[in-house]
Amino acid sequence: MDAAQLLRSISKAKETYLLVHQAGVCHFADLLVCAVAPRLRPVVLSAAVWHDVGKALIPDSILFKPAPLGPEEWHLVRQHPAWSAHLVARAERGAVRPSDLWQEVVMAVRHHHERWDGTGYPDGLKAEEIPYAARIVALADAYGNMTADGPCGRALTPEDALREIAADRGTQFDPYLVDAFLALMQRGPLT
Ligand SMILES: [Fe+2]
Repeated sequence: MDAAQLLRSISKAKETYLLVHQAGVCHFADLLVCAVAPRLRPVVLSAAVWHDVGKALIPDSILFKPAPLGPEEWHLVRQHPAWSAHLVARAERGAVRPSDLWQEVVMAVRHHHERWDGTGYPDGLKAEEIPYAARIVALADAYGNMTADGPCGRALTPEDALREIAADRGTQFDPYLVDAFLALMQRGPLT
């Protein structure tokens, strides 16, 4: 099954969730990449589009569970970056195909849940071992999740979300990117 077939087979609720989340991540990732590494924009935007496509393989009962996940459920959720990367790697067409940037997109998708301190997944990469595009998508992904209503709670205000991002500077996120993101968001509307 390729990504297009997969997306056609998923529930309406999951499709809406993935598309709304994707739009938010693309927006914030675009702001950040244009500020810090414009040359990476095609890679970052493609990765922002595809980063969570693997969640299509997670049952709705787990993805939308309004309670903390159990260990087996959490194990399943943690597979989604690798599933996303696998689907992207198999895609026949994409924004940057057939250029050699495609492998960078696959790696950015695979590593969007790594953490700067090395405690993320799927590979436990640390600091600059994590592809730069993946670090940008990770920050945009987290901010997008914090500022959107989800199954486990209501959205944080932009101000509270930025405080959370700042608190995770150098643990979850690349400290340089946190500084750049805070500067960007404090300069313009917090949306
Ligand atoms: Fe994800």
